[in-house]
Amino acid sequence: MSFLEEIKRRRTFGIVSHPDAGKTTLTEKLLLFGGAIQEAGAVKSNKIKKGATSDFMEIERQRGISVATSVLAFEYEGIKINILDTPGHKDFAEDTFRTLTAVDSVIVVIDVAKGVEEQTEKLVEVCRMRHIPMIVFINKLDREGKDAFDLLDEIEQKLGLKVAPMSFPIGMGYDFKGIYNLWEQNVNLFTGDSKKDIEDTVEITDLKSSTLDELVGEPAANTLREELELVQGIYPKFHKQAYLDGDLQPVFFGSALNNFGVRELLDCFINIAPPPRAKQSEERLVKPDENTFSGFVFKIHANMDPNHRDRLAFIKIVSGEFKRNTPYLHVRHGKKLKFSSPNAFFAEKKQIVDVSYPGDIVGLHDTGNFKIGDTLTEGELLNYKGIPAFSPEHFRYINNADPLKAKQLYKGIDQLMDEGVAQLFTLDINGRKVIGTVGALQYEVIQYRLEHEYGAKCTYDNLNVHKACWVEPEDENNEEFNAFKRVKQRFLAKDKQGQLVFLADSLFSLQMTQQKYPSIKFHLTSEF
Ligand code: G4P
Repeated sequence: MSFLEEIKRRRTFGIVSHPDAGKTTLTEKLLLFGGAIQEAGAVKSNKIKKGATSDFMEIERQRGISVATSVLAFEYEGIKINILDTPGHKDFAEDTFRTLTAVDSVIVVIDVAKGVEEQTEKLVEVCRMRHIPMIVFINKLDREGKDAFDLLDEIEQKLGLKVAPMSFPIGMGYDFKGIYNLWEQNVNLFTGDSKKDIEDTVEITDLKSSTLDELVGEPAANTLREELELVQGIYPKFHKQAYLDGDLQPVFFGSALNNFGVRELLDCFINIAPPPRAKQSEERLVKPDENTFSGFVFKIHANMDPNHRDRLAFIKIVSGEFKRNTPYLHVRHGKKLKFSSPNAFFAEKKQIVDVSYPGDIVGLHDTGNFKIGDTLTEGELLNYKGIPAFSPEHFRYINNADPLKAKQLYKGIDQLMDEGVAQLFTLDINGRKVIGTVGALQYEVIQYRLEHEYGAKCTYDNLNVHKACWVEPEDENNEEFNAFKRVKQRFLAKDKQGQLVFLADSLFSLQMTQQKYPSIKFHLTSEF
């Protein structure tokens, strides 16, 4: 297969949802269709019980929360599909945001009974801002849930999306009879009480046809006709380019658990979802079909195998071919690195591969060279944009609890920060170290990992900080900036890159400071 054909047949996407909406179940059903796994329950049992391949970390096993993000790849109808799994837990939201920099499209899963939930809102907002094409899957139709039209309204209003229904439910919960597929113009029927299987798929190109009445009964058939008329009246017709531009979102209904509506989703997905897209670097737009290799690190995963203390850096290939044993430029360090055993991911296994293509994710063994956002190229000085740090929500001083292990502690902190587990700030006034995180859970993760991976012990002290703001002075030497630095000395720190940060202790103090020093800009992200 030619290089261009390899690119064209790749689809790299992420599934985002609020926890429990059915992301894991849907992932598993997609893998089943691809023949990548043989039994239902395989992905799920890994997640909660065995803790094997889809989530690697020990801590995950103990908690049963999806801490890690992993890659699951499979083939379906000649298409190579890479699913980047994202942790649903809100404390790991930043991990998910970073993963979204590596996807070309997204499937949003919504629970029919719960509707749009908090985590979904946040993640969809990020996707919307980046114009990532999104498909919505409304799940758990076998249960009583909200009215389909109300739900579509809610999606439009809360998520700011413009929806185009591609399928529509016939009844719901107890009365759920099946789904009319507007995309393929057929009906999938659920029959019997168990609602476990798709009994029949019947083509119905003419909705007036009496076959529909025979299949679902006259009342349900009439309701469906009315509802579809309404759908066609209210909602725009699906338009592929609008979807690709992030301006229109196709919606499917189904039940992942019962494998209902999943094949339809997948068939449509491989048809409409974009192959690898061009990516903006600081220097220029890089296209996937360029001959020279480039890629960036969007995730670093430590100690997947507790017997080996190495890390795996996940690289999304943006352009060219990535080849084993070939020296590539680590742009930030300005040095060439060669990788003898790059891992590619197939379903739940990883394997060493010789060549990978744009859209693929490779896992590179790393002894501490990489940090999130690093770029690899064949020699060109490129820096991929778009992995900024956001202001953390929680802040604590970190203390060394074992004076003999100071070196281990600092090495551990350093590496965990490069992985993007949390952010480190060093106070200007006394050099004390402050850890900022998105969720409180990360403090336990850090403590646990420092102890188990680096043999170091830490304790925390509370610190009252509302937000970390990256400081941008109009002029480094003007009187106002000097006054600001003098007066606010106690609240100033450096992030790991040495950028100046103002740790505002309340919203009020941030506003007052902004008023008092109008020439200084305060940013809530590290890239501005
Ligand atoms: P997540 O990854 O988004 O957190 O959700 P997950 O797939 O783990 O699903 C959350 C729960 O919802 C699971 O039940 C799962 O079986 C259930 N579920 C998923 N899809 C459907 C569906 O289409 N219909 C119904 N009725 N339930 C669905 P659980 O009780 O938490 O786990 P388990 O005991 O079933 O494993």
